[in-house]
Amino acid sequence: MDEDIRDKVDIRHDDIVGLNFIRDTGRHMFRKHCRQGLRSRIMEVLDAGDVRKEAEGEWVDGIRVFPRARPTWMLRIFTRRFASPADVLEEARMYSLVEACLGQGHIAASSEFIVDYIRDGRREMLLCGLQAFVEGEILDPWGFVYPGHLAELCRRMPAASDGDADVRVRRARKSAESLLGRLRDMVTTAGYIPDLSGIGNLILTPSGNIRLVDINNITKVAVDDVVPTDDKGYPVCDKSIEVMAILERELAGRPFDRNDPLYRLFLDPARMARVKEIEEKFYRDRQKQM
Ligand SMILES: Nc1ncnc2c1ncn2[C@@H]1O[C@H](COP(=O)(O)OP(=O)(O)O)[C@@H](O)[C@H]1O
Ligand SMILES: [Mg+2]
Repeated sequence: MDEDIRDKVDIRHDDIVGLNFIRDTGRHMFRKHCRQGLRSRIMEVLDAGDVRKEAEGEWVDGIRVFPRARPTWMLRIFTRRFASPADVLEEARMYSLVEACLGQGHIAASSEFIVDYIRDGRREMLLCGLQAFVEGEILDPWGFVYPGHLAELCRRMPAASDGDADVRVRRARKSAESLLGRLRDMVTTAGYIPDLSGIGNLILTPSGNIRLVDINNITKVAVDDVVPTDDKGYPVCDKSIEVMAILERELAGRPFDRNDPLYRLFLDPARMARVKEIEEKFYRDRQKQM
């Protein structure tokens, strides 16, 4: 019996081209991305010629080099099981909401598609996305524990033709301003927030733009005293609002405003202490599962 692709940890090219909804033209290679999250399987879609060059090398000015193949796309297979077509459409609708609120400049654009996944004669609905690959460094919001974090990230980028590290720092600050404005609108007008807290969810591009690549964990922002958790038991809404405050302080250079109604509710010390307990339980439970 074939293992369900959503449960498979070690996914290879042959597993992907063996899926009933993938047509193997020979032009693409699929390779598991070096970073993975909890909700999707992320596969790099590579040009077969680039992979060949990577393995066999090419001659440049008399020197044989082995250029790493850069993904043309990312294939995302959502691990969530859907009970009905309405559920899967609702999940796909959430992507449209993020795209409408944050704009193409702050997300990794994705074409979502729903397929019939056939395995051992059974059919199930599966949600996938073909997403633009975002080059850059992970912007870890929890890494701002020392003042030089942003400058360090910008220095680590491959030397871009359009500006040095200082220029990138300035651009990153501007990009954070724009992203925060859009997130604020999303929270106040639509009442939803994406997951900003997962490591790897935000990427800083070589040109200094901040993009959200993890577009599939969106939560309703309820203005009350209950700390909501997602399907894995993580207090994602509170932690994402905390990330907004961190980005505001560390990148946009705005000190924390206690009179801001959003932060007054979510960053109240007693509430944050409850969030910490829930978070610790989440990590304890995950450790037990390993
Ligand atoms: N389009 C993309 N471009 C570059 N990196 C990506 C892209 N999509 C996902 N990743 C990386 O893959 C990892 C897992 O992706 P993520 O979207 O967070 O998955 P999950 O939904 O399982 O949390 C993250 O480290 C993220 O940076
Ligand atoms: Mg993630």
